[in-house]
Amino acid sequence: MLTLVNMEVMFWGLILVLKGISLQVRTGSVTTLIGANGAGKSTTLKAISGLIKLERGEVTRGSIEFDGQKIQNRYPEDIARLGIVYVREGRRIFDELTPEENLLVGSYLRPRGEVEEGLERVYHYFPRLKERRTIRAGYLSGGEQQMLAIGSALMAKPKLLLLDEPSLGLAPLIVVEIFEIIRRLNQEEGVTILLVEQNARMALGLADYGYVMENGKIVLDAPAEKLKEDEDVREFYLGLSKAGRKSFQDVKSYRRRKRWLG
Ligand SMILES: Nc1ncnc2c1ncn2[C@@H]1O[C@H](COP(=O)(O)OP(=O)(O)O)[C@@H](O)[C@H]1O
Ligand SMILES: [Mg+2]
Repeated sequence: MLTLVNMEVMFWGLILVLKGISLQVRTGSVTTLIGANGAGKSTTLKAISGLIKLERGEVTRGSIEFDGQKIQNRYPEDIARLGIVYVREGRRIFDELTPEENLLVGSYLRPRGEVEEGLERVYHYFPRLKERRTIRAGYLSGGEQQMLAIGSALMAKPKLLLLDEPSLGLAPLIVVEIFEIIRRLNQEEGVTILLVEQNARMALGLADYGYVMENGKIVLDAPAEKLKEDEDVREFYLGLSKAGRKSFQDVKSYRRRKRWLG
């Protein structure tokens, strides 16, 4: 469905942030992009959705192809019309509006006749939003605000949903609940998902395929099941290792094993 080939992204014509990203998202899959803070995950999603334009960013090399069309450097609205919807990091909602009003804003690209059906669909997956549909969205809990952000995206009937760190700042139980809903949206609604996460454990638990990003590059990719077993991923992203390493000798082999460094 989506193919990035050797994509480079530059800001202000001089700051090179993505240094040749290649990745694929298959129709119907959940694909995840994991990596530490500052790796370039959000920039990748902003490039796909066209939002880098608003930050003076540009795809300066390579391509982004969606459903057979080249879409790099198009306007965000044109990209949204193709069915790519981006849920940005940090639960961007309209605090002053009610949840229902937020959802109506999310449906602005849909024909009027589909709005009611869209609301029903969102309330089916997020019954808590229905219960709280008439209060100010600013009073919702963090988890409910994340649900509202995803629900608003759902109102646009996406083919491809780009999710930027839906777990950020939320309690573990709420994260489990939200990931379960994401899984259902994929399986029951057939929405293809590209999920960006620092929470590698949750992301690899949900995804079919994963990419690991560091310093603006993809350093590793494999089916999620395999990535979970990869020693470097276990050590650096899942916080698991066979034994405690304390001596310098250990540190050296540790460095060597981190094969993508340098
Ligand atoms: N608009 C921008 N202008 C300049 N540099 C940026 C801009 N947006 C992001 N960056 C830089 O790109 C790098 C990757 O950022 P980002 O994609 O937000 O990482 P992540 O989402 O993986 O934490 C960071 O070093 C960040 O400072
Ligand atoms: Mg980010």
